[in-house]
Amino acid sequence: MIFTVAIDGPAAAGKGTVSRELARHFGFAHLDTGLLYRATGAKVADGMAPLAAAQSLTPDDLARTDLRSAAAGQAASMVAALPDVRAALVDFQRRFARRAGGAILDGRDIGTVICPEAEVKLYVTASDQVRAGRRFAELSVTDPALTVAAVLSDLQARDARDSARATAPLCAADDALLLDTTNLAIEAAVERAVAAVAKALKQGRD
Ligand code: DC
Repeated sequence: MIFTVAIDGPAAAGKGTVSRELARHFGFAHLDTGLLYRATGAKVADGMAPLAAAQSLTPDDLARTDLRSAAAGQAASMVAALPDVRAALVDFQRRFARRAGGAILDGRDIGTVICPEAEVKLYVTASDQVRAGRRFAELSVTDPALTVAAVLSDLQARDARDSARATAPLCAADDALLLDTTNLAIEAAVERAVAAVAKALKQGRD
């Protein structure tokens, strides 16, 4: 079975949780496409040219333990604005999306550019304050000096760059189901996502 779920949205909106829960529920493979840009950004920070870094990504690069920091997120957002870096990563993502057994990809341009033919498209978002609070709760465990204000300005800078870039900017596909988790618990958002995927799978069988 070929079945793609495309999930987009700004940083720390809950895409990762929704993706992982969908993958668990339906037994689909999951690709966090942000990791491709984070690993590329990390290789550039180590001294490599951006295109060469994107073209030479290995599973070991994606397993680096330093990819989750705010600095790695900013480095990712910067290389992600380069059209040749994005182009170098398209084939891998499209092949993943059409693998047998179902696939979930989360990122910024999945429903609009990578998989416009996806069977289900979701756009997960939340207010800046709620997203900053969630990211702070995650990162402050390993970085006690972190403040919510610093996380908020980091997210806003990243979202502004991701939304304003000329190539594949962050935006919802016209046919995406909107999940605004500002006042919706993540569990409830997951339930809605599961229902949307179950409905599309049933339609595909009927
Ligand atoms: O999802 P994330 O926060 O790990 O993504 C890190 C950065 O990578 C994000 O700020 C923008 C970029 N990105 C992108 O441009 N396109 C994607 N499909 C995924 C991430």
